[in-house]
Amino acid sequence: MTAQKYILGIESSCDDTSAAVLLGKKVLSNVTANQSVHEIYGGVVPELASRAHQQNIVPVVDTALKKAGISASQLDGIAYTRGPGLMGSLLVGGSFAKSMAQSLNIPIIGVHHMEAHILAHLIEDEGFPNPPFPFLCLTVSGGHTQIVRVDSPNHFELLGETLDDAAGEAFDKAAKVMGLPYPGGPVIDQLAKDGNLEAFTFGKPKIEGLNFSFSGLKTSFLYTVQKGVKDDAAFIEKNKHDLAASIQHTIVEVLMKKLEKAAKQTNIKHIAIAGGVSANSGLRSALLEQGHKKGWHTYIPPFSYCTDNGAMIGITGLLKLETGETGNMQQSSQARWQM
Ligand code: KG4
Ligand code: ZN
Repeated sequence: MTAQKYILGIESSCDDTSAAVLLGKKVLSNVTANQSVHEIYGGVVPELASRAHQQNIVPVVDTALKKAGISASQLDGIAYTRGPGLMGSLLVGGSFAKSMAQSLNIPIIGVHHMEAHILAHLIEDEGFPNPPFPFLCLTVSGGHTQIVRVDSPNHFELLGETLDDAAGEAFDKAAKVMGLPYPGGPVIDQLAKDGNLEAFTFGKPKIEGLNFSFSGLKTSFLYTVQKGVKDDAAFIEKNKHDLAASIQHTIVEVLMKKLEKAAKQTNIKHIAIAGGVSANSGLRSALLEQGHKKGWHTYIPPFSYCTDNGAMIGITGLLKLETGETGNMQQSSQARWQM
């Protein structure tokens, strides 16, 4: 048996600087620095994001190594997010990873961010079973909404994706309309717990096949709020729980309908969710409920592997390394990158 490898995973595609150390498929440390600088702008400001990554990357990597109880010289490889994402942010993690790998003379692996969200399901973590191949994954984040058939760590088939806004964006934009802080998804989730999910109805997208659309829903939500505020200036405050519960319910319903369709079409019964929005309590319980009804095996990641994290980059790097798919110093970061 070959010795298990120590892998450092570095994530810097958007506004979180994260680093993790894995030994084989087990996570020894997973450290994330969130950037609060964007809150007052109601969204991520790319220039500020890359500057914050520059400030955070050294302490975050250092802490990840310390928490794992190893020194950099023990690492067998470094994986980083090569794309897709904000170019300025990707470049910080990418250049740091490359120079560190070069100085240690170990392999470097450039990882696809969305593949990593999915492969986080292969991390060995007690109480969280790993899905067997093939499985379906609904990947829902701030930038993407996809249904993917996963046949191996190197083979992904995109079955459907959003034609406009991502599911996370729909949450964030609804929150913004209500004057809630960024990112709005977790805030909506919290408010929704005490709301009536049938209090408001919004126009649902009518898209064929397995693709999604969320821009119409966003407009429908905006009109509902604008009309409410016109009649009563305190409309949002009075209805915040119901508004949150209703928009969350609608987004989850749209996602689940397509997931059910994909499961039926492919006849795959191992169904996973991944990405920041997979932390949503409404989506998590809807998946469990549908899984129970349809006889699916469902896979929901631990909260720490839902939103952007270094561990998912580390596991993807390890799986690529095991199949001999390493990267090289010449590979450049890619803001846009098809899976
Ligand atoms: O995967 P992620 O951390 O970053 C991207 O790759 O985009 O996803 C961030 C998105 C944001 O839109 C955020 O509002 C959403 O995930 N999110 C949630 C929840 N936690 C994070 N949306 C709904 N409910 C949550 N609990
Ligand atoms: Zn992400």
